[in-house]
Amino acid sequence: MEKGYKASITGVGSFLPEKVLTNDDLSKMLDTTDEWITKRTGIRERRIVENGVATSDLAVEASLRALEAANVSPTEVDLIITSTVTPDCLFPSTSCYIQEKLGARNAGAFDLLAACSGFVYALSVAKSFVASGAMKTVLVVGAECMSKITDYPDRSTCILFGDGAGAVVVQQGNGRREIVTTHLGSDGSKAELLTIPAGGSKLPASRETVESGSHYIKLRGKEVFKQAIINMVDVIIKAAAANDMQVEDFDMVIPHQSNIRIIEAAMEKLGLPKEKAFININKYGNTSSASIPIAMDEIEKGQMLKPGDTAILVAFGGGLTWGSSVIKW
Ligand code: COA
Repeated sequence: MEKGYKASITGVGSFLPEKVLTNDDLSKMLDTTDEWITKRTGIRERRIVENGVATSDLAVEASLRALEAANVSPTEVDLIITSTVTPDCLFPSTSCYIQEKLGARNAGAFDLLAACSGFVYALSVAKSFVASGAMKTVLVVGAECMSKITDYPDRSTCILFGDGAGAVVVQQGNGRREIVTTHLGSDGSKAELLTIPAGGSKLPASRETVESGSHYIKLRGKEVFKQAIINMVDVIIKAAAANDMQVEDFDMVIPHQSNIRIIEAAMEKLGLPKEKAFININKYGNTSSASIPIAMDEIEKGQMLKPGDTAILVAFGGGLTWGSSVIKW
């Protein structure tokens, strides 16, 4: 068991834009079908922001809901950590825009980048701040406008992604939703499997980068698919061992929603029934770091876990990165 104070999730909130982009809509724009997308990914539709909406706009709505659920005012927040691959701009951080819009005038603010694993990474940082006693109240946000970095003519990637935001408030333990352990991993040797090549210091934005579409997500789907299964399985086994548990002792697996076949293959390798994995990818697609807090909010609203149940959050993404977090509900 880790030392220090206990850190609990005292409020959860999420926000999804209203506009729905269905597989049938995509099949009118591209050479694809509802049947192919549903069968290969489990996705039926995803939400997309209107023009002019930025990641911080979604994040603020999710944050307000999480703060309300925790009965915490924005001025009580000590720190805002936002995980996103679609920041409002390269700098300042999206967290600073959220801080201003919330009126969280006593909070520090920074962004954290671990792609689709980012929420689990950010939760791990929040837990450490709270468990050490350095902070009392940390707002952790996963928010994405994936539609802004998606190359819609590219049928092998554009079918996957959607927009949305989720947030949680982490405070000293109140006996509910305790963050028991976190495990993080990475493998930078496979960075090229999932990346936006242009727009940073290595390949600054230019007419050429825009013309070649290098400012959009580039994904080597088959290789990422395999790595996701291997590392999600491994980090669940590690978490079980660290807690003196068997994997079957988890009441629910709350996975990053990347592809239903990845999730089902991981469950099968672990010898767990697929019904133990929470799934909502059919409605929202892959919302990157927003997917786990959105799932947590749906689980909370639906009372799908009861006090004392043990859930494991598990994520995988570009970097490569992966992580898990055991939550005693
Ligand atoms: N509609 C119809 N056909 C499509 C298609 C689409 N949207 N996208 C690809 N295809 C075609 C390909 O062109 C290929 O045709 P070919 O056999 O004639 O060459 C065929 O379908 C198979 O393509 P492939 O890329 O091998 O499919 P796949 O089974 O690997 O599925 C992904 C593609 C992207 C759905 C899958 O690899 C995946 O989900 N990977 C993980 C991606 C991910 O989640 N990344 C984020 C991690 S956080």
